[in-house]
Amino acid sequence: MAALTLRALLLIVHLPLVGGLTLDTISGDPVQFPETEQCRERGATLQHTLTGGSSQAVARLEDVWKPAAGYKDRMSPNESVVLNRSNINDQGLYGLTCGSEEKRIHLNVITSSEKSVPEGQAAGFTFHYFTAGELGRYRVERNTQLVFELDLSSGSTSQGSGFENRTSVAPHWRSDGDLTLTLQGVKPEDRGDYFLYVLKDRQRGHLQAVRMRVSPALNAPEERNREQITCTPQPPCKEKTALICVSVAAVLLIAGAFYCGQKMPRICGSKVSGGAAAGGAPTGLEMPPYTDTPVPVVVNGHA
Ligand SMILES: *[C@@H]1O[C@H](CO)[C@@H](O)[C@H](O)[C@H]1NC(C)=O
Ligand SMILES: *[C@@H]1O[C@H](CO)[C@@H](O)[C@H](O)[C@H]1NC(C)=O
Ligand SMILES: *[C@@H]1O[C@H](CO)[C@@H](O)[C@H](O)[C@H]1NC(C)=O
Repeated sequence: MAALTLRALLLIVHLPLVGGLTLDTISGDPVQFPETEQCRERGATLQHTLTGGSSQAVARLEDVWKPAAGYKDRMSPNESVVLNRSNINDQGLYGLTCGSEEKRIHLNVITSSEKSVPEGQAAGFTFHYFTAGELGRYRVERNTQLVFELDLSSGSTSQGSGFENRTSVAPHWRSDGDLTLTLQGVKPEDRGDYFLYVLKDRQRGHLQAVRMRVSPALNAPEERNREQITCTPQPPCKEKTALICVSVAAVLLIAGAFYCGQKMPRICGSKVSGGAAAGGAPTGLEMPPYTDTPVPVVVNGHA
């Protein structure tokens, strides 16, 4: 049931456009031909139709899809055809021959511009189109979901879920054709690939892509500074505590060593050695009684 609904949706979305499946990819990204995954007919082929009508083999299905000669450096044997690093020459019509079935796939390879927008700021997606007397619908999609739509004849707009009240075009778009979209209050989840185009006579025209990243909010460095300020008093405090500890230890050690050296050279010798260096105790008993000398060395080492 769900599968049927999905299939119906795909047909509605894609068939009216070019009479086949349309795939969009941004130049440099990998592109997967999903229909090849469903085909299980040994000997099936995927061909790319070149300008002039000739065609070039892309891959052939044996136990898995294997790349043809020109694609070995960009495709690994797989359950479906995936071309790594798509380029502008991959654009165009593909024919999938699967048993007696023939399917057409249209691939668009789009060069995208990149932008990085700080969280909370406005993003502008530049787009200009001939709007004097032209009809059609201007659409902006993000990862294939609607962001904004403007009917160029009626002027009515709609906004995609998550983008309500955040998108707009300048009011004078009808006179100057400036359809640059402004997206207010950019959020981290807005990152992604935006496609802008005009849908007219069931064809997309002027297709443009923008890959947007969202960088940390502009006030983020301030927060970091504030942290640094609250941190600064700490190191002097620690130093002071350390200094007191070292001084007390030094006094105790010197006093202890002095007392021991005077009264009980053997027992205290082991104690001082244990305190100064771990594991020194067993040998310490055999060693001559400690004098003052090792103690200041340890204290200096810490100070
Ligand atoms: C294509 O990309 C996949 C996934 O990153 C990688 O595992 C594979 O080795 C690549 N194949 C070629 C031929 O570059
Ligand atoms: C195999 O195909 C899957 C998609 O079906 C893709 O995610 C994966 O990267 C591909 N592996 C290779 C090695 O190309
Ligand atoms: C958008 O604005 C309208 C009118 O001000 C308001 O009723 C609606 O709740 C807003 N929607 C969102 C998602 O903020």
